[in-house]
Amino acid sequence: MTGKLTVIVGPMYSGKTSELLSLIEIYTLGKKNYLVFKPAIDVRYSEEHIVSHTGLKAPAIRVSDSIELFEIFKEKQGSLDAVFIDEIHFFEADIIQVIEKIIYSGVNVFCVGLDMSYKHRPFITTAQIMGIADEVIKKKAVCHICGEYKAVVSYRKVEETDSEIDVGGMEKYIAVCRDCYSKLTGKF
Ligand code: ADP
Ligand code: TMP
Ligand code: MG
Ligand code: ZN
Repeated sequence: MTGKLTVIVGPMYSGKTSELLSLIEIYTLGKKNYLVFKPAIDVRYSEEHIVSHTGLKAPAIRVSDSIELFEIFKEKQGSLDAVFIDEIHFFEADIIQVIEKIIYSGVNVFCVGLDMSYKHRPFITTAQIMGIADEVIKKKAVCHICGEYKAVVSYRKVEETDSEIDVGGMEKYIAVCRDCYSKLTGKF
């Protein structure tokens, strides 16, 4: 039987990593076998764990690209029930082919990532994976400006690189609703 692809998306602070950690706990309690991956670029809170903004964490393997991820997967393939990947937006879009191979080998895949950058543009990798998913869970956060539970965008408070890849946390980003994003940026 093939595996199932679940994708969890939303702005920063919307509980994506927390939800991944809950799913990992369910697999741990069920004595299932799994691998947890994160992209090498994500050294925000830890190099060896996925970490939520509340400090909850689980050990993870840092990989530089989808090729390395697949090599590690192949070594364990026969015994695995699931693969968990945090910060999927940091991977190149070709990770989709690796994810397809994993689900068609009978292993469930759970991917977590930002759907949109601070520029309000879709992250291509996340968008493509959402396109082939069995289930997409879209989460929201509390707007850091107006306090309503309807934040769907991440807003970058600091002007620095123009790149949409820019690792950081509270010192750099807040979650905002569309109304507040529009007021803050003058866009739309
Ligand atoms: P994500 O991976 O989506 O960035 P995490 O799962 O790491 O989110 O963190 C979610 C936690 O962040 C919440 O449980 C809450 O404690 C905290 N948090 C901080 N700011 C907010 C906010 N504006 N809205 C919701 N949760 C927030
Ligand atoms: P988080 O969703 O777990 O909070 O982590 C998102 C990471 O992505 C964090 O390191 C900041 C980074 N990021 C970007 O690189 N570009 C962006 O446009 C945004 C919003 C976040
Ligand atoms: Mg996270
Ligand atoms: Zn708002």
